[in-house]
Amino acid sequence: MLRRTLPALRSVKDGAAGQAGKVDAHFPSLRGHPAARANAREAAEGQARLSAEEEDRRKRDGRATTTVKEFQVYRWNPDSPAGRPFLQSYLVDLASCGPMVLDKIKAEQDSTLAFRRSCREGICGSCSMSIDGVNTVACLKPVDADTSRPSMVTPLPHMYVVKDLVVDLTNFYQQYRSVEPWLKTKRRASSASEGEATTTRREHLQSPAQRKKLDGLYECILCACCSTACPSYWWNSEAFLGPAALLHAYRWVSDSRDDYGRERIQSLSEGWDKMYRCRMIKSCTATCPKSLDPAAAISAMKALHQLRKA
Ligand code: SF4
Ligand code: SF4
Ligand code: FES
Repeated sequence: MLRRTLPALRSVKDGAAGQAGKVDAHFPSLRGHPAARANAREAAEGQARLSAEEEDRRKRDGRATTTVKEFQVYRWNPDSPAGRPFLQSYLVDLASCGPMVLDKIKAEQDSTLAFRRSCREGICGSCSMSIDGVNTVACLKPVDADTSRPSMVTPLPHMYVVKDLVVDLTNFYQQYRSVEPWLKTKRRASSASEGEATTTRREHLQSPAQRKKLDGLYECILCACCSTACPSYWWNSEAFLGPAALLHAYRWVSDSRDDYGRERIQSLSEGWDKMYRCRMIKSCTATCPKSLDPAAAISAMKALHQLRKA
């Protein structure tokens, strides 16, 4: 699942700068998502380096650098009698590997390896894990093309492991649900646009400016990378809602169509733990693979709460 390169760029043999330019040209949708863009660039540069090494190897006929890389993957099977987690090494030739290294390992070397994935495009949030010590979604993370050192793949930190790279997200989803992540209104929906029969269609209308306030909030894919990178969440994961759930709470507080912003913030600030356990360490923002800023969302809700108290 680890993403080594971008398919559209595989044949590109330009230098690194050219690769970066190609990323911008081929993936305009990555504009505004700096982390995804940096990942795409890194993947393109890694691929360019690998291609150069391969070329070099061919020229020097076997005396060359290897394109085989070691991946150390966390394994734990609850049904195993030994019952202890360990790191299992897999060797993968990056030169003959598609973008998803974990998929290749599972398909060709070890079908017992367990990990979640679905969209392989950074949309579903399933493939979150820790890669070389950083929480991320594996499908957006380029593989470190340096074959002289292994890459380490482990489950999201401070979570109960179900098997191998699969963690138990029950508490995480319950916390998400607790912020009531749906539209709550007191007003009747506006009638449809002029000329249309009001009985056929009613909408909660929103201006472009009001809609724009949701940018940077609605894109969250609930991957849990942020919450599981947060020290406050590690130690208080039952009481503190964590950055992902709080980002979603702010998404609804910011929505002009929602009429319960005040009550939402009141509920989050009842009992100090739910929101005020955030100490602004900002690990959440640093690790978000979608370049979102949960720390800023929490800070904004704290400010709203304090202003309303004053
Ligand atoms: S805020 Fe970012 S890291 Fe956190 S759950 Fe959403 S997408 Fe994942
Ligand atoms: S800013 Fe708050 S939510 Fe984010 S990592 Fe720090 S303590 Fe956790
Ligand atoms: S498979 Fe990685 S986000 Fe969907």
